[in-house]
Amino acid sequence: MSLLNEIEPLKQSALADLKAAADLAALDHSKGAWIGPHGKFTALMKQLGTLSKDEKPAAIELEAALAARREALELADALPKHPTDFTLPGRRRTLGRLHPLTQVTDDIVRAFRKIGFVVADGPEIEDEFHCFDALNTPADHPARDTQDTFYVQAPPKPGAPDQKLPLLRTHTSSVQIRVMQSQPPPIRIIAPGRVYRRDNADATHNPTFHQIEGLYVDKGVTVGDLKGTVEFVFKQVLGDDVQLRFRPHYFSYTEPSLEIDFTNALVKKLGKDWLEIAGCGMVHPQVFENVGYDPEVWTGWAFGFGIERIAMLRYGINDIRLFYENDLRFLRQFSAG
Ligand code: DAH
Repeated sequence: MSLLNEIEPLKQSALADLKAAADLAALDHSKGAWIGPHGKFTALMKQLGTLSKDEKPAAIELEAALAARREALELADALPKHPTDFTLPGRRRTLGRLHPLTQVTDDIVRAFRKIGFVVADGPEIEDEFHCFDALNTPADHPARDTQDTFYVQAPPKPGAPDQKLPLLRTHTSSVQIRVMQSQPPPIRIIAPGRVYRRDNADATHNPTFHQIEGLYVDKGVTVGDLKGTVEFVFKQVLGDDVQLRFRPHYFSYTEPSLEIDFTNALVKKLGKDWLEIAGCGMVHPQVFENVGYDPEVWTGWAFGFGIERIAMLRYGINDIRLFYENDLRFLRQFSAG
């Protein structure tokens, strides 16, 4: 068989091979095997010397087949492997919901806003001055022992009134000082926020918990204003059957100081008559002095209470630790909000 007669069968094999290439890699491989520098078809052509008119079309046909297959494979590659089925139903996004503590805080804030209070804020990493000294609680005061906390190994902020270690605030009362330092009276603020104590966690204690502070400063403010305000808010948040009882107490930043006991059907259900819920009192003249307010002109009251206890009462929760464990089976039960 002459070399010329070999062209046609070789061309047919090459065409079949190129068309059958399953992907671009296989196509490159076929190309090499047939029409690359060392390909079988190339070898034949070399043996024939320069291509005559008759043989040229065979080479062109192979090049065309290669290009066509390459285009087809490239197109297939560009299409998604798993095309989208637009008729499938969508995947529903589950909505998050507010943490029960956030819900209770929001309700308390809403009640205070109705009577003209605004929300104030302060840092959780505090200094001793704002947390204790300015609140008339000097370093040797026994009240500091009951509010032992966590100190932060960090240099105090430049210009801080004392150069002692910063600490995690033990109560939101520090916000009272920050607000009074930053503006003149009258003042009507609440300050919800996180506080810290060196406590072991059990069903009713946690080293981190939440408080809400209130401060009202104006001329001629009385204990009557305090009682009326607290009663209004508790009724808004926990229902009209709420009863409050004010007992004498001691806090170094109020004089007189009072503790607030609370009762309603929920408390009775727990088998208790009263539940201790808040501390409060008339702002101590020394505190006014400490922030540069004239105690002869200005009067005021302040209070602070824990948010967890109110949330536990409201929802019938018997272990404070549940709030912080982020167990969705627990959190999903508080659907409002
Ligand atoms: N800071 C107090 C505490 O953490 C609560 C408190 C009592 C706040 C009396 C006040 C207040 O503003 O007047 O136990």
